[in-house]
Amino acid sequence: MKKYWIITYGCQMNHSDSERIASVLEKAKYKSAPNIEGADLIVVNMCSIRQSAVDRVHGLIPKFKKLKLKNNKLEIILTGCILKKDKRKFSEKFDLILDIKDLVKGYFKIKPKYQSKFSASIPIMTGCNNFCSYCVVPYVRDREISRPVKDILNEIRSLIKHDYKEIWLLGQNVNSYKSGNTNFAKLLKMVNNIPGNFWIRFTSPHPKDFSNELIEIITIGEKITPYLNLPAQSGDDEILKKMNRNYTVKKYKNLVKKIRKKIPDIVLSTDIIVGFPGETKKQFENTAKLFKEIKFDMAYISCYSIRPETSALELKDSVSSSEKKKREEKLNNILKKTALENNKKYIGKILEVLVEKEKQGFLIGKSLHYKTVKFKGKKNLIGKFIKVKIIKAEPWRLKGKIKKTL
Ligand code: 5AD
Ligand code: SF4
Repeated sequence: MKKYWIITYGCQMNHSDSERIASVLEKAKYKSAPNIEGADLIVVNMCSIRQSAVDRVHGLIPKFKKLKLKNNKLEIILTGCILKKDKRKFSEKFDLILDIKDLVKGYFKIKPKYQSKFSASIPIMTGCNNFCSYCVVPYVRDREISRPVKDILNEIRSLIKHDYKEIWLLGQNVNSYKSGNTNFAKLLKMVNNIPGNFWIRFTSPHPKDFSNELIEIITIGEKITPYLNLPAQSGDDEILKKMNRNYTVKKYKNLVKKIRKKIPDIVLSTDIIVGFPGETKKQFENTAKLFKEIKFDMAYISCYSIRPETSALELKDSVSSSEKKKREEKLNNILKKTALENNKKYIGKILEVLVEKEKQGFLIGKSLHYKTVKFKGKKNLIGKFIKVKIIKAEPWRLKGKIKKTL
């Protein structure tokens, strides 16, 4: 029997796609290899969001050469998000380069091989129509396609029957979802109406498409968790314009205000790019100001990476990498303070936690608000909801004691 090994880089969507790849391979009678050395087929599911992600694939090539010397039947396929220029470069190094939708024929219809027994990611739409000037997604993932409502609901219903506790709805632009008359808010409502004890999370929404209807359904949907990743990308209007984000800082701040008014306990994270072409010190300071004002719980801060095919390619990558690093560090320092301040309010509170894993004698889980919680407990609690009393707050996690298993 032939054996496969999958290497996945990038976002939750890519990880979800790898579950579909695994399922397709198993239907073709492949079995999962115990390690990479034991594989007859290696699939690399790559990301191109930053050059460093592409470099990781280049870094694998010497190892692949060695593996091929040991096993001359070994085949290596490259898939995922690949830019044209890289396709050409990689074509000599890989046996086959395949579009994810050609590798996983009937993409949305495939029943994935879920990696977790309690948390599942469901792609509800793929692609992107926004063309942010720095971003490869529209080029590597094509235009938006939304999955039919019925398919999504059926997949979730079947997961809930199997006692899944957490459902992630995924899309590169999740709130642009539209299938027939169903928009993202309506879809969320339908998922919320599926009977069962589970949490609904989603990622990532675009601030420009964040409707009042969507805020309303998050507010009333009892299964929809009070956590939002709301990518701001910059806190400066001129930069936002150059990024083609289609909102101003004021609009972003007003949106956050509106959300917080309706959902006071909402936990907010964001994505930021520092050192976008031409970003002056003053423009960066505007982003630092936004951080101080919003007091994010978490932020995924990236140094700008020039990308082929994107429209920002024409702009001069003018901020030095050491300056980008400095800016990243500055934002991280603000974030560390606001995150700690925000976390302190949980001390003494009892939180509902979904236990995810065991690490060095401790259990680690995520609270309803998507806060990492660490506590002592037995391994058989993994995959279950429990109550934990918080005794200590740190910037990136809470520490607590089990109160009660549910
Ligand atoms: N350089 C740096 N960061 C980028 N991102 C997207 N494109 C780039 C780029 N060219 C970041 C954005 C996005 C996240 C997934 O990656 O912040 O939200
Ligand atoms: Fe995900 Fe974008 Fe990377 Fe593709 S390029 S894996 S969509 S982050």
